[in-house]
Amino acid sequence: MPYQIPEETIEQIRRSNDIVDIVGEYVQLKKQGRNYFGLCPFHSEKSPSFSVTQDKQIFHCFGCGKGGNVVTFVMEVEGFSFYQAIQFLAEKSGQELPDSVSNEEDNLTKDSHDSLKAYEWLTKLYHHLLRHTKEGKEGLSYLKERGFTDEIIDTFQLGFAPNTKDFIAQFLEKKGFHKQNMVKAGVLTINDQNEFLDRFRGRVIFPIRNHIGKSVGFGGRTISDQKPKYLNSPESELFQKGKLLYNFDLARSTIRKEEIAVLFEGYVDVISAYKAGVLNGVATLGTSITDSQAKLLRRYVDTVIICYDADNAGINATYKAAKLLKKVGCNVKVAQLPIGYDPDEYISSYGADRFKNEVIQASDTYMKFMMKYLRKDYNLNLEGDRIQYVEHVIDEIALMERPIEREHYLRELANEFELSIETLTQEIQSRRQKIVGKQDNPKQNSHTKVIKDFRQSTKKLMPAYHNAERQLLAYMIHDGSIADKVKDELGASFNIDEHKVIVTHLYAFYEEGNDPNVSHFIETLHQTTVQGTVVQLAMIPVQQDISDKEINDYIRIILSEQSDHAKIRSLRAEQKLAEQQNDPVKAAQIGMEILEIQKRIKNSNH
Ligand code: CTP
Ligand code: MN
Repeated sequence: MPYQIPEETIEQIRRSNDIVDIVGEYVQLKKQGRNYFGLCPFHSEKSPSFSVTQDKQIFHCFGCGKGGNVVTFVMEVEGFSFYQAIQFLAEKSGQELPDSVSNEEDNLTKDSHDSLKAYEWLTKLYHHLLRHTKEGKEGLSYLKERGFTDEIIDTFQLGFAPNTKDFIAQFLEKKGFHKQNMVKAGVLTINDQNEFLDRFRGRVIFPIRNHIGKSVGFGGRTISDQKPKYLNSPESELFQKGKLLYNFDLARSTIRKEEIAVLFEGYVDVISAYKAGVLNGVATLGTSITDSQAKLLRRYVDTVIICYDADNAGINATYKAAKLLKKVGCNVKVAQLPIGYDPDEYISSYGADRFKNEVIQASDTYMKFMMKYLRKDYNLNLEGDRIQYVEHVIDEIALMERPIEREHYLRELANEFELSIETLTQEIQSRRQKIVGKQDNPKQNSHTKVIKDFRQSTKKLMPAYHNAERQLLAYMIHDGSIADKVKDELGASFNIDEHKVIVTHLYAFYEEGNDPNVSHFIETLHQTTVQGTVVQLAMIPVQQDISDKEINDYIRIILSEQSDHAKIRSLRAEQKLAEQQNDPVKAAQIGMEILEIQKRIKNSNH
């Protein structure tokens, strides 16, 4: 039986975490009127339909319909359980939960839980060995030689795994970890004699932190010439390379402030860049960037600067990453390293200032990079190749959203290849027609339009009783006395099932002595779809001084729907009886009656 967190503790945690701040860590929000808007983190979109209302402390997406408060937001976005979300928010606002709570249930399996604990211990142990022991000396001098300062070593919790047979195995055993699990976690190995051995040996350790700063994997770089040069923890429930961006936890706030992220190939580059004052760097872990990583970045920033090795593999990887990031809607730039360099080598050779000014600041635009990149496949001295190259570049230019950008690159192309701008423009237009034809209504994307559509569709397409129920619920959510009145006159007799669920919970909420508070109320609902509906309802504009008469009108509309439908049901039964009794005239008469009522319902809905 999980220990219940006291309601007032939850309330306090909720109050000390403003939803705009918390959501703002995941989504780039822009204020517009009383609300904030951004790209929805829960579905893929290119224009913002995700809104946050500060005074009500709720979020809502007009695109996918998700909605909730700060706790449900964290649950959704981080995949946390309720307890984990509360814990996470408590930590953020510097509050402590009683121990019995912090050890309580979460989503992780027991093994992953152990492995998380083991990584926490080992991160500390490796770091200590590096910083303070003679076993760590060779690791430390290796790092110092590469220019890592004490401060950097501490910030990134770098460590050293000595070249020992089973030092770590013994340490883990003493701490009570199950050795077989530690093999799965990727910190021990097992040999033919069934002995458990240290997996990382004679390697500098780079702890790989997840997005909330917990170590979930290690990267170990050899300091001799062991193979492989880099040894990483294996994939596990905790450590999924395709979902993690190295250093995202530390870089998040700078990324948000500067609205730019710099993407590197690996942790060494991120750390070197950090040392050089580039604090918004993140990295994939020696693998190509995935869709989920690209989308994660897109949620935070418009612009991503790709800064990969300037060798063949790096340039090809840049091309792929650029395409993917562009596809998810990023403004992509490509840093300019001299051929043969990687970011870390460049910084060691030329220093921080030149790295910032001549590499990061001087990044190529996406198109500029593409034009250079595509060039390498053609011999531009040959007429046939030249035409193909131009066609290829036109394909890329046609994909650009902004006319002014398209024109810019067309001119560049026209000049270089002595082509008329008119011809090129025609080529672009025919390609654009195909592209635009494929997209659904690309012009109707602004979020104001989405909201308008949303409001209209809820007004127009719903029958009158449905609208009446929604309006009435909106008032009930804002005002306990209206809820009381409705409870007396209507009880839970709403026609829409979901509304029945909502009123039932709402009555209970008020009966417990709570004041109106949407953000608090939705926590009492267990289904996320219902939570989403409540948030939608709470956003319906309400008048401050609605009259009793108006409330009565809503009630009347809801009740009349019930009596009409009840009538139709009983007429249908009579009709059936008439048919069974071989009385077609009577059956037809009844049929007419039913039609009349249906017509009346339909008319009253407009
Ligand atoms: N990397 C990784 N896993 C691998 C190989 C590489 O995570 N199996 C990451 C590391 O973070 C490394 C980056 O990719 O920092 C670049 O790898 P690579 O180019 O192979 O390393 P070098 O730059 O040559 O490494 P170093 O500077 O340490 O010699
Ligand atoms: Mn390197």
